[in-house]
Amino acid sequence: MVAISEIRGQLHKLSEIGPNLVGVFVGGTSGIGESTAREFVRYANAPRVYLVGRSREQAEKLVEEFKDINKEAQTTFLQSDVSLLRNVDEVCKEIRGKESKVNLLVLSAGIMTMSGRDETDEGLDKKVSLHCYSRLRFTANLLPLLRAASTSQPPLSRIISVLGAGYEGALDTSDLSLRKPGAYSLSSAANHAISMTSLSFDHLAKDAANKDVAFVHSNPGGVQTNLGRNLGGVMQKLLAVGAVLLKPTGLIVPVKESGERHAWAGTSGAFGSGAILVGPKGEKTTSKVFEGLRRDGKGEVVWRHMEEVFRQVEGQGAKYIGEDDGHR
Ligand SMILES: NC(=O)c1ccc[n+]([C@@H]2O[C@H](COP(=O)([O-])OP(=O)(O)OC[C@H]3O[C@@H](n4cnc5c(N)ncnc54)[C@H](OP(=O)(O)O)[C@@H]3O)[C@@H](O)[C@H]2O)c1
Repeated sequence: MVAISEIRGQLHKLSEIGPNLVGVFVGGTSGIGESTAREFVRYANAPRVYLVGRSREQAEKLVEEFKDINKEAQTTFLQSDVSLLRNVDEVCKEIRGKESKVNLLVLSAGIMTMSGRDETDEGLDKKVSLHCYSRLRFTANLLPLLRAASTSQPPLSRIISVLGAGYEGALDTSDLSLRKPGAYSLSSAANHAISMTSLSFDHLAKDAANKDVAFVHSNPGGVQTNLGRNLGGVMQKLLAVGAVLLKPTGLIVPVKESGERHAWAGTSGAFGSGAILVGPKGEKTTSKVFEGLRRDGKGEVVWRHMEEVFRQVEGQGAKYIGEDDGHR
């Protein structure tokens, strides 16, 4: 565990590493992403920040607030529904047109829903797309800019996906996108999104071209945000009551602290480069399931599947229709 006082001390020194850090916050209009962007703006020296999300109203408020926090910061809102990979490509194109490097890519766009598989017109479940496919598409598209950041001054290059590090679960490698009848459930969707994130990051980190990039998968713990907004009254109330009951146990991380912890994970030297799983209190973590999948070479299998999905959704109206050879 890393004490929050230690983290705040290090964040205070962030401006010393130099000006013009570029941060992209996908899901930066609410919750953990918003809080992480705010702390980055507070402590970085003249940063350029991109907030990606759907809510223009919320983003406009943040753009104004961030100007007050740091007069030298530049914040740009990119409005997009990033559950669609073609929209991810558009956002990345816009960023590439404006920036030659990205120092920090924070991926936290997500939803909480108890409903079943909800297919986008690209053939992927919306939640699994937001939590995994879309984030890995951002990663793949922006890796050249992250590599550029690792060789420019200051050499800082991090990707953070905020999801469920350490909670990897069983993977059906013959149906990674959970298309088969009966395959999709709350737990299989979570298992696949979390395991595919950890395995993909591990796989990408092994590429010598990415040797100076850090791939961080975080589990933020319980953070009170707007995540339950689509659940309906009863479930939302249950979540709120749960949060109140858990508060004295220390298991709930205040949203400001979560932002500070993620801004620190994204900028401090604590984790070096490579693939890292990080828990709610800044501790390195792992899981038996992840170690087993990794040992069995499933990282490569998952990344091949990602590349196949990316290939199939390219082009107007294109859709992922599965892989008939299956994956083992
Ligand atoms: N909070 C927790 O306790 C907790 C615990 C474990 C894991 N997590 C994970 O952490 C991530 C962030 O959660 P949070 O608590 O920060 O949630 P949040 O407050 O609801 O924020 C979610 C963000 O995702 C964006 N988003 C949702 N759908 C989108 C779409 N289709 N296109 C573009 N942006 C979209 C939202 O922006 P717009 O509304 O502007 O689109 C918002 O900025 C989630 O993946 C969640 O599963 C959270």
